[in-house]
Amino acid sequence: MIMLSRKARIAVLVSGGGTNLQAILDAAGRGEIPDGEVTLVISDRAGAYALERAEKAGIPSMEINKKACGGQMLFEEKLIAALEENRTDLIVLAGFLSILTPSFTTRYSRRIINVHPSLIPSFCGAGYYGLKVHEAALGRGVKVTGATVHFVNEIPDGGEIIAQKAVDILPGDTPEILQRRVMKQAEWVILPKSVETISREIVSRSER
Ligand code: GAR
Repeated sequence: MIMLSRKARIAVLVSGGGTNLQAILDAAGRGEIPDGEVTLVISDRAGAYALERAEKAGIPSMEINKKACGGQMLFEEKLIAALEENRTDLIVLAGFLSILTPSFTTRYSRRIINVHPSLIPSFCGAGYYGLKVHEAALGRGVKVTGATVHFVNEIPDGGEIIAQKAVDILPGDTPEILQRRVMKQAEWVILPKSVETISREIVSRSER
C-alpha cells in the first residue's frame, strides 16, 4: 500500500497587495509545493487586496485588525487563536508589516519565515519595509540588491537565512521600478521555493 504523506498546513500573513501570496498560490497550482498547502490567509489591516486573492483562490481568510484589537498582546492572542484553530504548521510572512513580539516568535521557533526585499544584512531591521528599502538602496548607490527569505526570531530581520537572490540596479531606476524588478526576479522565485523546502522539512520531521 502506498502511504500518502501529509502536507504542512500553511498560514500566510499579509498586509497589502499580496503579490507574494499570489506567487505561492501560483507555484502550488503548478505542483511546485507538493509538501504544503495554504489553509489560511490573515491580514492585519482592512481592505488588503491580498484578501481578495485568497477569496478568488477559495482559501479561508480573515482580517485581524491590529488597531481594532486595542494593543499588541490582544492582537497576538487573536492571531495565535486563529493559527491554532487552523492547526498551522508553518507561518509565512508575505508583506506582513506588523512587528511580532518575542513571546510570539519563540512560540513558533523555526516555524515562521519572512521575505524581505534586500540582501540581508543590508537595508533591513526596524524601519526598513516596502518601498523604504528600495529608496535606501538607491540612496546609498549600491549596484546590486535582491531579496532574502529567513526564519523569524526576536531580532527584526535577524533570523537564519534560508535563501537569497541578487538583482541588478539599473541606471534610471526609481524605487517603484526597482521594487517591481526585485519582486519579479527574486521574491516571487525564492519565496515559493523556500515554502516548499521548509514544508518538506516539517513533514519529514513529523513522520520520523
Ligand atoms: C514585498 O516587497 C515584501 O518583500 C515587503 O513588502 C512587499 C509586499 O508586497 N516586505 C517587507 O518589506 C517586510 N520587511 P506584496 O504584498 O505584494 O507581497
